[in-house]
Amino acid sequence: METRKNLVLSRENIADKVRDLGKDITRDYQGCELIAIGILKGAFIFMADLVREIDLPLQVDFIRAASYGAETFSSGEIRLKKDIELSLENKDVLLIEDIVDTGRTLAFLKEHILNKKPRTLRICALIDKSERREVPVEVDYPGFSIDQGFLVGYGLDCAEQFRQLPEISQLLT
Ligand code: IMP
Ligand code: MG
Repeated sequence: METRKNLVLSRENIADKVRDLGKDITRDYQGCELIAIGILKGAFIFMADLVREIDLPLQVDFIRAASYGAETFSSGEIRLKKDIELSLENKDVLLIEDIVDTGRTLAFLKEHILNKKPRTLRICALIDKSERREVPVEVDYPGFSIDQGFLVGYGLDCAEQFRQLPEISQLLT
């Protein structure tokens, strides 16, 4: 069965934005000890593209959180499923997320990472659904602001499907 989708961001839209974000991050992190941390699973494609647009020495690591029973909505309770392996003490940490919705995941991960005493902590998210925020979290490097619909592709899933699609589409039901 074919799932109906509406194209929201083309490969070119995404590539242009990732290049701009990479330039901003390169400018801001001169002389820093940058550690890019990808939030699994959704950020894996965005992160792979983004780090290749950052013209600086950096290290990469991953973290994974999950909220109970989430498919096309976020439930309240968040658990850590995989922790960071590198030491973050006195490092400049850039947390990379696919999409920020209620803000609950990021608020949880931010607090978790701050306990590891980084020198700085900033957030880069490809998509910011800022109007849906329930918990205040600021995205330092936002890509696109999109408030409508449930999005899939370029790492974003619905029940673990569609992550491999090269563009971002709205799922139509
Ligand atoms: P939050 O905790 O409500 O901010 O939710 C963030 C997480 O929910 C993201 O990391 C995504 O995994 C998931 N999410 C939120 N909106 C979407 C969407 O439109 N498509 C796919 N996943 C989404
Ligand atoms: Mg996610």
